[in-house]
Amino acid sequence: VIDIRKLYGETGMFTYDPGFMSTASCQSSITYIDGDKGELLYRGYPIEQLAVNCDFMEVCYLILNGELPTPEQKADFDRQVTLHTMVNEQMQFFMRGFRRDAHPMAVLTGLVGGMSAFYHDSTDITNERHRHISAIRLIAKMPTLVAMAYKYTVGQPYIYPQNDLSYTGNFLRMMFATPCEPYVVNDVVERALDRIFILHADHEQNASTSTVRLCGSSGTNPFAAIAAGVACLWGPAHGGANEACLNMLEHLQANGGVEKVGEFMEKVKDKNSGVRLMGFGHRVYKNYDPRAKLMQQTCKEVLGALGLEKDPLFKLAMELERIALEDQYFVDRKLYPNVDFYSGIVQRAIGIPTALFTAIFALARTVGWIAQWNEMLSDPEYKIGRPRQLFTGYNSREYKKA
Ligand code: ACO
Repeated sequence: VIDIRKLYGETGMFTYDPGFMSTASCQSSITYIDGDKGELLYRGYPIEQLAVNCDFMEVCYLILNGELPTPEQKADFDRQVTLHTMVNEQMQFFMRGFRRDAHPMAVLTGLVGGMSAFYHDSTDITNERHRHISAIRLIAKMPTLVAMAYKYTVGQPYIYPQNDLSYTGNFLRMMFATPCEPYVVNDVVERALDRIFILHADHEQNASTSTVRLCGSSGTNPFAAIAAGVACLWGPAHGGANEACLNMLEHLQANGGVEKVGEFMEKVKDKNSGVRLMGFGHRVYKNYDPRAKLMQQTCKEVLGALGLEKDPLFKLAMELERIALEDQYFVDRKLYPNVDFYSGIVQRAIGIPTALFTAIFALARTVGWIAQWNEMLSDPEYKIGRPRQLFTGYNSREYKKA
């Protein structure tokens, strides 16, 4: 038995909190969540109001700067972002090193980290102007990189950015246009994807954001820190849940659909099955995730506009939600749909392949990551993140040949 007092001192305070269940790792003024009420605010503004009244660029400006932009500030911000949408041509050669069937998140982790090789000024993180340019570069280039990763997997030529389109319209065109076929941006689809971006823009100290902060706290460059965030987001307990959720719905649909929902739910409740209802549950929300409500609404709008009202996966998701919200297992544990429950259905309707869902999440979350990273570096008292441990191994012992 190890005497913790001997290891960590009699007076120093030492807490052991696996998973950071109740430990704040930083101070932040960007995003506020009230998990019991199901409330989410960016810089004080309710997500419901931002989703209806703003476009993604305005929300990016708000998250980065703390205030909504005036029309002049918005125009200037748009101009700055569109100036940086292209990526260095060398990135194509980097991309060619990947297998065509590589997961887009593997490719994106590499590409984002690789960008630090192109922007040497980004290594000077003490200079506020350089930090700002890095932020703009990351926000501007992320859609180009995600679209490139997609085009590479389907073997089509990359489509270069077209800067007279909106941020989201440009991304849709880079994804779906080909040199033979122009892509006409559908207003409902553009608005829906823009809303998906808004809903994913920031979410305080989640796993990937905490990863970006921890990685950035060593003084590394922003591309390296954001690449760490991308890697963390990939996991199915975090951003990878949107892909896992759609795979779950498709699997269920192929194996009996709505008729088999009851049987599936029994499996979910059986702890030995290892099956979870993906897109359900959240560390902080113990009430309905407000983003899931907006996502469900967006889902209805998009499916309606595209003539897909009878989409069987949407029907299935609604039925799963209905049963879960009445089931004591979910009631007792306060498990509600999270942002990932409906987002895959919207993205699938738009034509985005399932494997790309988490990359889209990463694209949208980039602004949150970079704002949190910048907030950390702007704090004169910031320190390298260095968690302690509760050591459970051997005390010192003599070497003996085995
Ligand atoms: N399906 C079934 N049971 C669940 C689920 C679920 N989706 N989520 C939690 N539970 C159960 C757990 O088994 C546990 O039960 P117990 O108390 O009887 O042991 C209880 O609810 C608490 O769950 P924890 O895993 O301890 O909660 P934690 O806060 O650590 O995890 C998490 C939160 C990872 C989101 C979890 O709810 C989960 O795995 N959900 C499915 C994956 C998912 O949708 N992730 C996306 C989250 S949102 C985002 O990152 C964008």
